Amino acid sequence: MNGKEYTENNILKNEVEDDVVDPWNVVSKSETGVDYDKLLKRFGSSRIDSELLERFAIVTGKPNHHFLRRGIFFSHRDMNSILNNFESGKPFYLYTGRGPSSSSMHLGHLIPFIFCKWLQDVFNVPLIIQLTDDEKSLWKDIDIEEANKLAYENARDIIAVGFDVEKTFIFSDLEYIGQCPNFYKNMVRIQKCVTFNQVKGIFGFGDSDVIGKISFPAVQATPCLSTSFPHIFENKKIPCLIPCAIDQDPYFRMTRDVAPRIGFQKPALLHSVFFPALQGPKTKMSASDPNSTIFLNDTPKQLKNKINKHAFSGGRTTIEEHRQFGGNCDIDVSYQYLKFFLEDDEKLEQIRKDYSSGALLTGELKKILIETLTPILQQHQERRNKVTDQVLKQFMTPRKLNYNL
Ligand code: TYM
Repeated sequence: MNGKEYTENNILKNEVEDDVVDPWNVVSKSETGVDYDKLLKRFGSSRIDSELLERFAIVTGKPNHHFLRRGIFFSHRDMNSILNNFESGKPFYLYTGRGPSSSSMHLGHLIPFIFCKWLQDVFNVPLIIQLTDDEKSLWKDIDIEEANKLAYENARDIIAVGFDVEKTFIFSDLEYIGQCPNFYKNMVRIQKCVTFNQVKGIFGFGDSDVIGKISFPAVQATPCLSTSFPHIFENKKIPCLIPCAIDQDPYFRMTRDVAPRIGFQKPALLHSVFFPALQGPKTKMSASDPNSTIFLNDTPKQLKNKINKHAFSGGRTTIEEHRQFGGNCDIDVSYQYLKFFLEDDEKLEQIRKDYSSGALLTGELKKILIETLTPILQQHQERRNKVTDQVLKQFMTPRKLNYNL
């Protein structure tokens, strides 16, 4: 499937002229990346504005995460209703996921999980993580057994983010759906509400797409219904909040349309922008191109080489010009990466000023990025090494979580 194939009644229609943003492709026409203002309008979601940010901090009683302060999570649906729930002591849960297409995840995949960890800590709520090994087997040249193996490899990376085992359930579609009649029943309830024409419109499916793809959106929608997890929520209908990058929104626009028709509240969402490819947002970040981004299992040497050789620079062509006119942080990938991973606001602002004025050179900026990411990757790898088979099994066993409904 590509942008050109999308035709009738299509929410993704503008992609031919604009940025491509769908669950399978995120590529911008511009060096500064996707035009998120346009995307907000096209998708019909709401901007996370200063008022909501203020309310977030008041309700949680904690300073906002830098992903919120810096507009990395920039869009939402119904977040106010989740905050209202929390304020009045009513429960909700978090739901997110990963499509295991490679044995190691990359830094971009980590963004929603880092944010979920913070949300789990500040709200003290259960988190459901869906591993769509079925999806990856349907979309890629990966057989069922291999996709299932990758799901377990990815679960190790996810657990290494630091989730609370008492409050987190991770599951593989290929395993859990067959074990849980309630999940399958909800899936069929959703499938009954969506026509082929509708999924064609939302996802751009064509006549030659296999039927597994056509019914898959119901699989990703089902965890939004709390009764799909009777061991955690019993039969109670509990609202759900989904943190993810905005590429996943089509699934949840569909779910929000269906949920009230089958007696559930619409899921709420928090959307992030994209962590760009090393070559910049005009390039597709791909697990099959090791130089397109940083993988969580990269060595310090690989990390250093990739940044030095491949990180797109917003600097000038000569040192003299750079000193005179300064660099462009808006297109510089090293600076963009620091926005995601350097937590210190003052330091980041100083770097922005110095690079823009020309006081800081591209090589120096890259060095700061390498020094910032090296310990983050090393610590991640250390934590991942500690995820034993037993720990993995604990997270992935359907069980009651430590949470009072
Ligand atoms: P997947 O594996 O493509 O991506 C996993 C999560 O990472 C986000 N993401 C990114 N975030 C920032 N910058 C990037 N460059 C970047 N690339 C990916 C994705 O938005 C996603 O949140 N079908 C899904 C799996 C899934 C899911 C869900 C995701 C199942 N249920 C519920 C979110 C919420 C997938 O293949 O994600």
